[in-house]
Amino acid sequence: MSLHSPEFAADPHAAYDDMRRRHGPLVPVEIAVDVPATLVIGYREALNILSDPAHFPADPRAWQATVPEHCPVLPMMEWGPTESKAMGEDHSRHRAAYTASLDKVDLYALRHAVEAIAVPLINSFCETGSVDLLGEYAVPLTVRVLNDLLGFSPEAGQEAFAALVALRDASDAASTEHSEQRFTAAISDVVAAKRVAPGADVISWLIGHSARFDDAEIVAQTAMLYSTGTEPTWNLIVNALLLMVTNDQFHDELLGGALSIRDAIDEVLFTDPPLANFCSRFPRQPQIIGGSWLPVHQPVVISLAACNNDPAVGGDRTGNRSHLAWGAGPRSCPAQSIAMVIVQEALDQLLDALPDIELAVPADQLEWRPGAFHRAPTAVPVNFPPAPPLTFV
Ligand code: HEM
Repeated sequence: MSLHSPEFAADPHAAYDDMRRRHGPLVPVEIAVDVPATLVIGYREALNILSDPAHFPADPRAWQATVPEHCPVLPMMEWGPTESKAMGEDHSRHRAAYTASLDKVDLYALRHAVEAIAVPLINSFCETGSVDLLGEYAVPLTVRVLNDLLGFSPEAGQEAFAALVALRDASDAASTEHSEQRFTAAISDVVAAKRVAPGADVISWLIGHSARFDDAEIVAQTAMLYSTGTEPTWNLIVNALLLMVTNDQFHDELLGGALSIRDAIDEVLFTDPPLANFCSRFPRQPQIIGGSWLPVHQPVVISLAACNNDPAVGGDRTGNRSHLAWGAGPRSCPAQSIAMVIVQEALDQLLDALPDIELAVPADQLEWRPGAFHRAPTAVPVNFPPAPPLTFV
């Protein structure tokens, strides 16, 4: 089964159902051409793996040495380019610092900051009657909010984001290296400025943390926060919106007040989490789980999407947030509350301003980005009755 095919991207749930029938909880897959992995689609097996870092570490180095240099999954899975090299084996020391720094974010102020970014974006298209909500709303909103939260100036944020995009699009070693250097340089400039003049932002809090990290470590942590935090957040915004505008029952219950935007977000975190297949682990020795052998060093990728929909743990999901969309165990996402505030406020503002959004193409003609990891539409074209600009108070 190939996770990199357009067919898989077009209908992953049909593929998961087929895998479950044919293989059970552990499935041999290809995550790129000739790159084998095991996909875990059983919820209990996934929890066992994610909570056992001694047998299932997240360190990809032994595997990485075996794959071709330009393998397209490397940017999502490799050791480095910046974070892991500088952070070394010392995950818990670094995690303590970025968790403490993220916990300092005032969620009330964040909500207001998201609104301040959402309103001008909405005003830039609300009178036109149509827009691509991914490219013109979810992406710029997420990037600007993350820039502010981390402590980037608008210019530095723009440079870092451009470098990150170039890094994802890089097709050879030279352009990868160039984009990595550009990304690191943009972040290094901000870290140097924050050393001199700290502010109320995550980079300044990391600098001030009692662990006394050096600049390379702060740059590495920031790079990880930036690259991990952006894409799933904008995808969750559009995937929740898609549920609300394409599922008639959901739409009616939302209008009738029986369901809320938060319910839509939770539903998507269960059914179509933005990181659909993620949390790669690399067995130190051959392991047996659920009656199957997991080869040494070969990636074990957790299908957060398929595990959430595992019939073995199914049932009524109302008010139940026991999905794996944030991962589980010692590496689970430390920014869940932050991500939820961004996504919820982005959708609240949008739907307050434009309650009658409709998809501009039939839902089954939406294109999904191929690739093993993200559940990501390539664009979300919508129409709506034009509305006057909002005022921000
Ligand atoms: C909807 C948005 C998001 C989703 C679905 C999400 C999901 C996840 C998942 C599944 C993991 C586990 C990775 C693993 O086990 O290997 C993770 C880790 C992480 N996330 Fe998030 N995330 C989101 C937003 C964010 C944001 C906004 C930030 C930062 C501001 C962030 C920072 C991190 C970091 C630093 C880690 C690594 C934690 C560690 O290894 O200690 N995430 N995230």
